[in-house]
Amino acid sequence: MAGQIWKLNRRQILTMAGTGAAAVILGGNGAPAASTAGATGAPAGDMRAPLRALAGKIFYTADQPGRWKGKEGGHSPLIKVDKDGTDVLVRAANQHGMSKTHYIIKHILLDAQLNFVKEQVFDQAFDMPRSRFELNGVKGRFFVVSMCNLHDNWINWADV
Ligand SMILES: [Fe+2]
Repeated sequence: MAGQIWKLNRRQILTMAGTGAAAVILGGNGAPAASTAGATGAPAGDMRAPLRALAGKIFYTADQPGRWKGKEGGHSPLIKVDKDGTDVLVRAANQHGMSKTHYIIKHILLDAQLNFVKEQVFDQAFDMPRSRFELNGVKGRFFVVSMCNLHDNWINWADV
């Protein structure tokens, strides 16, 4: 199933996961994140302004790659959501190598309020950077953070 993620072309990937991740997370248009479809609320304590300042500097997105411009393709996590009744499967993947010196460390799943939900740590020697998060009875926006040992943290999102 996860292999299907790799068959998507760039247009499909961008449509599926949304290239406006930073704008959505950070309310780039000035609107609160809660006003977007499926979101359940803005970051706690209204962190939008500080987060906006950090995008492209501390964390990166396809739209705000900052100093890592040109590395979006391998680092912004691809996300696919499948739903069966109340069962939800969120899959994430990076088209990124796993060499001893350059690899994806882990994927972190966050809810719409940027609370930690689950994570999957990768073994550089044995794993591909693909994660599966099985959830139940959830809905709304989820964010996936992909951590590269050289190119920092990249965020993308999908709605359940
Ligand atoms: Fe990297």
